[in-house]
Amino acid sequence: MILKEVQKSLIVASAAAFPLFFSSLSANAANLGALQQLGEQIFWDKISNPPRMACVTCHDPRAGWTGPHSQTNLTQVAITGANPHTIGNRKPPTSAYSSFIPPFQEGVVGLPSGVLGGAFWDGRAKGNIPAGSTTDPNKIGDEVFAETADPAGLKTAYGQYRGPTAVQALGPFVNPVEQNKADRAGVCRHVQKAQYAPLFEQAWTIPITCDDAHVDVNYKRIAVAMAAFQDSGKVHSFSSRRDQALAEDPDKKFPLDGLTEQENLGHDLFYTVKIGGNIISGPAPNGKGANCVVCHNIA
Ligand code: HEC
Ligand code: HEC
Repeated sequence: MILKEVQKSLIVASAAAFPLFFSSLSANAANLGALQQLGEQIFWDKISNPPRMACVTCHDPRAGWTGPHSQTNLTQVAITGANPHTIGNRKPPTSAYSSFIPPFQEGVVGLPSGVLGGAFWDGRAKGNIPAGSTTDPNKIGDEVFAETADPAGLKTAYGQYRGPTAVQALGPFVNPVEQNKADRAGVCRHVQKAQYAPLFEQAWTIPITCDDAHVDVNYKRIAVAMAAFQDSGKVHSFSSRRDQALAEDPDKKFPLDGLTEQENLGHDLFYTVKIGGNIISGPAPNGKGANCVVCHNIA
């Protein structure tokens, strides 16, 4: 670990001294661990106005990554913003497993609405990754890799984290009913001054800067870090009874030894699609199906 850090600082130092040399040395410049740690630090950091609210305020691992206050959940449901005179109009969904949400699509065959994907209850964080670079402040394209020491290497390593979860993360910091920062530059400067700022440089090969020309791209790089963290095993733990039973079962097939008969029946009903009296797919216990998998699938 320490050796790696030393190697890295040597590489960065040589990059400054021998810019031409650098392109051949930079094949391993990507550092997913640092990117995920950056996202984790920010998830817990109260980047808000006033400074009393972080992502974790509304997405708490002790409550399945959603709102942790029973009284709020029983009454107003939405969580009061950093500015205590504000409140949104929706309940936080869990932020766990969000990196499995596919980009927003319409006209999907086999779904009643034809609509699938995108983050937020209404899927508006669409997260379709644009081909090539973009200056659209709400889309994350190849501009996040440009100007780094290794655009191609970073794109290979981080490119997948630019979908709905990253686009979602562009929202809360500057939403007046959530973290209420005045603008993206304020978020950028907060991260620039934070103790964990070196993680930004370790992940992106360049320090975070917040001048007008760079504030949007660095804000997007922060959003990519949020997505990378939320894609890590720290957030989706796969530790439910179903996951455990699946892991422990020698042939990994349902019915699972570790589940009760009723739980196995629930599984089979969940995964059976029955439309218009016809079984379309699934094990169909007693000829029945509950169709849950039509909407709840990770394909
Ligand atoms: C004030 C509470 C609050 C804060 C703070 C907050 N969120 Fe959320 N989060 C919500 C609500 C409410 C929604 C749903 C909003 C909607 O559908 O319009 C949501 C949606 C999400 C989703 C989408 C999940 C899905 O299934 O579509 C993710 C991921 C997420 N938040 C992550 C974050 C991150 C990362 C941060 C910090 C940058 C954050 N949230 C800060 C309340 C909050
Ligand atoms: C037509 C699509 C659709 C079908 C079919 C469907 N669901 Fe859902 N389900 C949703 C949507 C959308 C939500 C989130 C909205 C909400 O909570 O009102 C949801 C929410 C849930 C949640 C809460 C998740 C959370 O994080 O709070 C559970 C649990 C659930 N569904 C289980 C089931 C089961 C079990 C079935 C089959 C009996 C089923 N669903 C069938 C669309 C569907």
